[in-house]
Amino acid sequence: MTPIETINLGGWSGIIAAETSDRAIEALECGKVLFFPHLGFDIHKGEYALLSADVAKGDRKNITLDPETDTSHGSNLEGDDRTRLEALLRRYAESVSAFVQNLFPAYAGHLQRARTTFRPAEILDRNYSPRKDDRLLHVDAFPSRPTGGRRILRVFGNVNPAGRARVWEVGEAFEDFAATFLPRLHRTSAAKAWVLSVLRITKGRRTAYDQLMLQLHDRGKLDSSYQRGSLHHQISFPSQSTWMCFTDQVLHAALSGQFALEQTFHLNVAHMVDAGRSPIKVLERMTGVTLA
Ligand code: SIN
Ligand code: FE
Repeated sequence: MTPIETINLGGWSGIIAAETSDRAIEALECGKVLFFPHLGFDIHKGEYALLSADVAKGDRKNITLDPETDTSHGSNLEGDDRTRLEALLRRYAESVSAFVQNLFPAYAGHLQRARTTFRPAEILDRNYSPRKDDRLLHVDAFPSRPTGGRRILRVFGNVNPAGRARVWEVGEAFEDFAATFLPRLHRTSAAKAWVLSVLRITKGRRTAYDQLMLQLHDRGKLDSSYQRGSLHHQISFPSQSTWMCFTDQVLHAALSGQFALEQTFHLNVAHMVDAGRSPIKVLERMTGVTLA
């Protein structure tokens, strides 16, 4: 199975045929990356100066627009430049939000808009500890942002002004990845204790599901033989293209590239066409435990 579904839409608005929407949602929920080779995001003339690695503060990899406060953090910019970057991020958020509501009528009204990011750093130049290194295959799970089982839908746009691609690798199906690592979580006594403690968690912000996903994220990244030996499929996303996937399900690694925009959405599994394909339902079937 190829992990990519190519969709030839060329605009952010306009009518989308029902067959296209059906194909898109089926592929998305199956764990594929939807790739839109002709859907580019326009950078305005006055915004090109913002496409510089220097706009990020310190060694931060992202500049974030917070949907609650509608302000950005993580940049060095002030005054007009900051206003311009925030306007760019807002415009991206609005274009993408309208597009996904249109593309996925089944999710319309249920996608919760989360952060918008600008990624000005060259991925190749980054030096991070393995846990933080997104050049290693992983599913997204964040210590500070538990989802409780909600899906993480991320839309990416390559806006590289020199025409460079952003290169990803996509790994095996979530079920296969989980089947490899879940038994290892139970083998050590520390992990057993952890599983037991998890079973007693009833409230708390970080659910059993979040704990499990964090373990899978870390164990997967730290296992160099898995990183070398498991299935890899390389994808090159050209400048002026768009792609999206459920990053809590799709094993992905970002290998190289510079200057991307990204919009995150959350979705309650109840609003999926087939909730049984969500990581939480898959893990609940595999462990026999209710995880959130
Ligand atoms: C990631 O989500 O792991 C990084 C993706 C990217 O920046 O291309
Ligand atoms: Fe990721």
